[in-house]
Order: sequence, then C-alpha cells, then structure tokens
Amino acid sequence: MSKTRREANTENTAPVRHKSGLSAEFAECLIAWQQQHGRNDLPWQNTHDAYRIWLSEIMLQQTQVVTVIPYYGKFLERFPDVKSLAEADLDEVLQLWSGLGYYSRARNLHAAAGQVMAQHGGRFPHARAALEALPGLGRSTAAAVAVFAFGAREAILDGNVKRVLARHFAIPGYYGEKKVADQLWSLAESLLPARGVERYTQSLMDLGATVCTRAPACASCPVKDSCVALAQDAVLKYPSPRPRKSVPERTTVMLLLEHKGEVLLQQRPPSGIWGGLWAFPEPAAELDIADYCAQQLGCNLSGMQRLPELAHAFTHFKLSIQPVLCRVGTRAARAESGLSKWLPLAAAEQAAVPTPVRKLLRQLAQELVK
Ligand code: ADE
Repeated sequence: MSKTRREANTENTAPVRHKSGLSAEFAECLIAWQQQHGRNDLPWQNTHDAYRIWLSEIMLQQTQVVTVIPYYGKFLERFPDVKSLAEADLDEVLQLWSGLGYYSRARNLHAAAGQVMAQHGGRFPHARAALEALPGLGRSTAAAVAVFAFGAREAILDGNVKRVLARHFAIPGYYGEKKVADQLWSLAESLLPARGVERYTQSLMDLGATVCTRAPACASCPVKDSCVALAQDAVLKYPSPRPRKSVPERTTVMLLLEHKGEVLLQQRPPSGIWGGLWAFPEPAAELDIADYCAQQLGCNLSGMQRLPELAHAFTHFKLSIQPVLCRVGTRAARAESGLSKWLPLAAAEQAAVPTPVRKLLRQLAQELVK
C-alpha cells in the first residue's frame, strides 16, 4: 500500500451530495472497508513506480491476481525497467508471457515500452489521455495507472467494476452495449470521492474480486445498505448477461512432427491469433498430410497417428484442434529456416508457445515414452 493509499481516511472527506443525487457515502464506506478488509500487500502495491504499476495492470486485464503474481515476479526480474523491456527481443517477451494468454497484451507492452523511450524520454506520461495513447491501454487501464502511479483523480471501469456498479445501482441492459457502458462511466465518474481516490479505486477492485462476485457474498458487503439490487432481492439479475449469440467453431489440423526426440515448430505471423508465438504446422484441411510434409516441410514420414481432439476457447470463437503425430523418417536440411525450427521436446515446452501447443507437447512427451 502506498503512502497516499495508507493515509487515505474518511474523516476529512465531507459527505457531499453529488449532482446525480448520489451520496459520497458510497466512497466513504468503501474506503473504510478497504483499509481493513482489502488487499494491501500485492506485489504491485506500495510503490509509485509507473512501470511496475503499468505492467501489473496489463497483466491483470482478463487475468486473476493469483495467476498473475508468479509471472509478474519473473517478468520484473528479467525486465526491471521500461528501458530493458524496450530493448528486448519481442520473442523473449512472448516467452515470459507464455501461458498468461491474450498475447496481444505482450506485443502491445513491448511496443508501448518502445514509445515511452522514444516519445517520452523513458518516463511514463502522467495524464490519463497521454497514457491512453500508448498501445494496450484502454480508458480504464490508463486511469488505473494514472491513479496508482500519479495520484490522479480518474474513474476506472473494468469488468469487475462494471458488475459492481450495474448491480449496486440496478442498471439494466448488457454493459457491453455502448449506451449502458456510457451510463456506467458517468456513474463511475460521479462517485469519485474528492480525496482518497487511490484507496477508493483499490476498494472497487477488491470488492469486485472478493465480495461482489458472480456469486456475491452480500452479507459481507460494506455497501449492502444502499444496494438497489439487494433491496429488490434481485442481485443475480444484475448485471444483465450478454445476449446469447452462438459462438462460431473452427477446426484445424496440427501436425506434431517428431524426429529423434525433436519437434518442428513454426513462428506464426506477427498479427492474428497467437501472433509471433511458436506453434505446430497447420496444413489446410484438404491437403494430404504426407504430401504436405514432404513438399512443404522436407520431411518423409515413417508413421502417422491421430491424437485425441483438443478444444480451445477464444473470446469470439471455439477452436477444435485435431492433432496428428507424424513420425519423421528422414528430414531435409531445408526443413529449418528463421520461421521454422526443430527443437528438443524439453526446449519446445520452454519456448513462447500458446497454451494448447504446450498441452500437446506434454501429450507428445507421454506418447514418446510409450
Ligand atoms: N485488477 C486490476 N488491477 C488490479 C489491481 N491493481 N489490484 C488487484 N486487482 C486488479
């Protein structure tokens, strides 16, 4: 907990009425609760170092605190400041990110570090709008960095906070819709206290993560007395769910080429899913696998075995992966290039690979000892 966050207290925050008629009591109750019941010793707290705060906020987008903590520590060991990150190879950044998912975050992180060095002399800008101009920072993340690093008075509205506000004030409609999101942003701004914004911001994050969850613990809620949804006995009706749309499903074949304990990985193009990560070759469905391996990869197969299907869910579609273990009898030297390399299985598992590829590498390791 930073000095400002520690010093925040409710005593000198006069109970003003907001224009909207909402009372400052909401923030007061949350600030007092955070001091006693909130999370105050997370690895990215007790500092005003914008680099450390920015890194944590990017890692925490769509990812829970427990998952982030070990990645955060390892990342900082290797890249202790924005300069070291800007100077690194993207491949190494992706490797440290491997397993956290949503890899565009890592690519944007690297690009943003470059911009901070080139355009801001190695110092993060203080204003929320300037932070928002960096790759990977939306309005809420930029606000969180501005609040925690620079003590700005800005509102945040991440997924958890949307749930808290939509529920507390019984706001109808799906918050992914612009009209509803605009309403929530206005509400978030109108609730900002005059002082103690840092602790207040943390309190909203903590409340959303530990109390006002999908299965809320209303009895422990510091603002239950003013919760509109609770008064209506309708906490589970809020926030309104995303209107159901069927998620498209795609199928792909992945070839696990194995030769003398080594596997072939190819680097994916920089944009698109798993951009820049290392993955297995994916031939078009209509191609004959043995011909493809011979012509495109310079490998003659001595055996082929289908492995069990693997499902992977992305935000906008489901991917059904059909893995095929291809035992390579002979391989040509031209099979390797900058975008394509043979690696011992253990080294492949350490490379910057997406989660399903890592799962398949583990499965392959088990097949090979059979
Ligand atoms: N989620 C997003 N930002 C966070 C933070 N600073 N602490 C805990 N959870 C968070």
